[in-house]
Amino acid sequence: MDPRKWIDVTPENFNYSLDHFVIPSHYDKDLESILIPHGVIMDRVEKLARLIVNDCKGPLVICCILKGGHQYFADLVNVIKKLTTKDGHSIPLSLEFIRVKSYHNDASSGDVRISLTEEECQEFKGKNILIVEDIIDTGSTMVKLLKRLEQYQPSSIRVTSLLIKKTPKSNGYIPDYVGFAIPDAFVVGYALDYNEYFRDLDHICVISEHGKQAYAQ
Ligand code: IMP
Repeated sequence: MDPRKWIDVTPENFNYSLDHFVIPSHYDKDLESILIPHGVIMDRVEKLARLIVNDCKGPLVICCILKGGHQYFADLVNVIKKLTTKDGHSIPLSLEFIRVKSYHNDASSGDVRISLTEEECQEFKGKNILIVEDIIDTGSTMVKLLKRLEQYQPSSIRVTSLLIKKTPKSNGYIPDYVGFAIPDAFVVGYALDYNEYFRDLDHICVISEHGKQAYAQ
């Protein structure tokens, strides 16, 4: 995706205090600020679904990257299934789930574990695949996953990530459809977690030092 087409989240234009919106009280001390309110996420998901459907040329296998991608996946699929292509056709969808893990606390472990059986991979042959991810940070998870999936000769693979982090650690990978480019901070909420906490928070927020310590492993 051309970077001019995503929303650039900077502290100057996205700076919400925790008092501006409702957050679960059990996270009162664990968050620094709200970066992207839930309503803005939902509006952006609608537009991303429109862009994806406009480029769609037939049945689509939509792959959810678990666990962080599940909320974006669920909301995106809900919109896509109600849309039609420019020439008025609805899109037959099938859904797949891939579990990927690479993070410990707030740092990438470098060791990307992908849970996919040989049998599941064979299903991708000749299909149009859309991968749905929560966030691209260094990009190494996605590059590894794409290498693995390409071995199974899908007809096409496109990737959408709700977030991309503006970090010097990036390997340069950019997905086809991006919602927001965010500052180089650890974010939680809308299914993004810190050691499995904060998935029950609707807004995308910056975690506080207190939060990092409270839930460190
Ligand atoms: P990458 O391989 O460095 O691009 O990391 C991608 C994965 O790391 C994502 O799928 C997330 O699970 C996780 N991740 C990276 N940054 C964050 C963050 O700020 N919050 C929560 N998870 C993150």
